[in-house]
Amino acid sequence: MRNNIIHPGADELSYEIREIVEVGYRIAKAGVPIYWENIGDPVAKGETIPQWMKDIIAHTVKTDDSSYAYSPTKGLLATREYIARERNLEGGVRITPDDILFFNGLGDAISTIYNYLNKSARVIGPNPAYSTHSSAEASHSGSPHLTYRLDPKNSWYPDVADLRRQLEHHPEISGILLVNPDNPTGMVYSVAVIRKMVDLAREFDLFLISDEIYSNLVYGGAEHKKLASVIGGVPGIAMRGISKEFPWPGSRCGWVEFYNRDKDPAFARYAKTIIDAKMLEVCATTLPQKVLPLIMSDERYYPYLAQRNANYWEKSQLAHAVFSKIHGLTVHKAYGAFYLTVLFNEGTLRPGQSLVPANAEAAGIIKPFLDTPNLDKRFVYQLLASRGICVVPISSGFNSDLNGFRITLLEADTDRFKKVVRDIADAITEYTAVIK
Ligand SMILES: Cc1ncc(COP(=O)(O)O)c(C=O)c1O
Repeated sequence: MRNNIIHPGADELSYEIREIVEVGYRIAKAGVPIYWENIGDPVAKGETIPQWMKDIIAHTVKTDDSSYAYSPTKGLLATREYIARERNLEGGVRITPDDILFFNGLGDAISTIYNYLNKSARVIGPNPAYSTHSSAEASHSGSPHLTYRLDPKNSWYPDVADLRRQLEHHPEISGILLVNPDNPTGMVYSVAVIRKMVDLAREFDLFLISDEIYSNLVYGGAEHKKLASVIGGVPGIAMRGISKEFPWPGSRCGWVEFYNRDKDPAFARYAKTIIDAKMLEVCATTLPQKVLPLIMSDERYYPYLAQRNANYWEKSQLAHAVFSKIHGLTVHKAYGAFYLTVLFNEGTLRPGQSLVPANAEAAGIIKPFLDTPNLDKRFVYQLLASRGICVVPISSGFNSDLNGFRITLLEADTDRFKKVVRDIADAITEYTAVIK
């Protein structure tokens, strides 16, 4: 090419959660059945969509031709009115339908909000990080994502002292991201922690982004508070969607809520840029917006979520009971979303450790991936080739300096889940035996 056509952030884009799948397929072809523990799609993991929900969608598709049309750029007014009403009932900052903007899934919202942020302005996010945020933010600036620690010794809560240090050292930080409930740790933050983050944003004159896609998937007695309840007058963006809740990830439907645009002209201009960008794209998917208020206001909706949450809580306790007994690991029960992170303590993993692969072909397939400084990645690829279990390494999958892996709590069959957890536990014991 006569000019450099490479985006400065090109090297920042990676999505290990899906990349490992390609390797899994090849290992499956080599005759090792794969148990997919890597991806957070409840439908792919066998969650059935309730018939009443399908009936609402089918009726809309059959009777309402406007569900095939474009929708207004911000989203259907009736749907935004419903969301604003529900939001305001919870107390905290008040919004109007005008403060809501629909996207084609939160993935679309995430890339847009970072893409249209001034290149020199940074958003600091959690470590471990959900990589769609960390990669998009890093790509917008052309340099690695800045992070604050989630503390495994303190229930994976944000390390507020570390966050303060980062804010002091990096004047370019203009926003703070929190993911609550969190992916990959499954943690739900206390109101006190969120309040401290809001206080920091106020003190340093920043805006907040709160990814709340899992806000209705909370269990084990945890109380979830949305950013809106705590934010006061600080500018912020909350992100929600139906991919995990309904669950309908294939609908590509999510939305953002802007808070306190009137309090800061620069934040208002930034929000307008995001809305203008969506206008160029015309609109987000119409059908899911049409059915959203019908489904969420149905009397069967919250009992249905309660039943799913009970299932995740059972799996969270089961996994915790098994992994917490193994020497060299740190594990906390998940209280939200449907993930649990198992952390290898410092010194548990060593370069020479290995698992016996299921066959020679599987061994050959993972060989190139073992040449990595990330010790958890070495374990994860060997787990795949040896036991046929596909999980995601924390270091490369979640932009972290920690070593561990994420499993999901999506398996509906309890016996099958127990077996997978036990198989992983056996593999860890075999793998780490060399240093005992
Ligand atoms: C924290 C978080 N935010 C956003 C998304 C993306 O959701 P969507 O399907 O709406 O793009 C995910 C998907 O896994 C997620 O875990």
